[in-house]
Amino acid sequence: MKILGIYGSPRKQGNSEVILDEILRAAVDSGAETKKIYARDLNMSGCQECGGCDKTGKCVVKDDMQQVYPLFEEADVIILSSPIFFYGISAQVKAVVDRAQAMWSRRMLKKPREQWKNHESGRGYLIAVGATKGENLFEGVKYVAKYFYDALDMDYEGGLFYKGLERKDDAKNNPEIMKEAYAFGEKIVKGEG
Ligand SMILES: Cc1cc2nc3c(=O)[nH]c(=O)nc-3n(C[C@H](O)[C@H](O)[C@H](O)COP(=O)(O)O)c2cc1C
Repeated sequence: MKILGIYGSPRKQGNSEVILDEILRAAVDSGAETKKIYARDLNMSGCQECGGCDKTGKCVVKDDMQQVYPLFEEADVIILSSPIFFYGISAQVKAVVDRAQAMWSRRMLKKPREQWKNHESGRGYLIAVGATKGENLFEGVKYVAKYFYDALDMDYEGGLFYKGLERKDDAKNNPEIMKEAYAFGEKIVKGEG
C-alpha cells in the first residue's frame, strides 16, 4: 500500500505535522510505503483558471505541482493535514488542492457521467487542528477534503480533528492524541480507518 502524506502547515513540527508523522510512522510499522509532501516547500501558484486542463486533463502550469501529480496517481491512500486558518485550510495547501482541478478535468473526460459518483483510485483522509473550540470549526474543511478527493477519484473517509491546540507542542505533549494518531495509522493500513 502506498500512502502519500500532504503536510499543510507552514509551521515546522507543529500540531498537524506531528500528528501526521505519527500516523505515517504507524503505517510504516504496519508495512505501508509512505511519501511526504510539504506544501510550504513547494514553489507553485494556485490554479490560474486558464482552462488549460479542460481538453487534456493535464495542468499546463509548469511549477513544483508537476512533481505532485504523479504522486497523486500512484497513491492508494492520501492523508492531508492542515491547521485551521480562518475556518479553512492553510493557503499553502489550498493551492495544492485547487491545482487538483486538472485531475477533476481528467476524471470528467475519462469517466462517463453515470459513474461520476463512483471512486476507484483509493481512499483519502483529513487531519485538521484548530486553537479554538468553535462548534463548526471543521465543517468547511471537511467539504474541501470531500471534493478534493472526489477530483482525485478517491473516497473521502473522514479523519482526525482536534480543537484547542494552539502552541506548537500542544499535540506532541498530549499522549492521548499521539496514541490515537498511531492507532489511526494502523487502522488506515488495515482498511478500517
Ligand atoms: C493565520 C492563522 C489563522 C488561524 N485561524 C484559526 C481559526 O479560524 N480557528 C482556530 O480555531 N484556530 C485558528 N488558528 C490557530 C491554529 O489553527 C492553531 O494554532 C493550530 O494548532 C496550528 O496548527 P499547526 O501547529 O499544525 O500549524 C489560526 C492561526 C493562524 C496563524
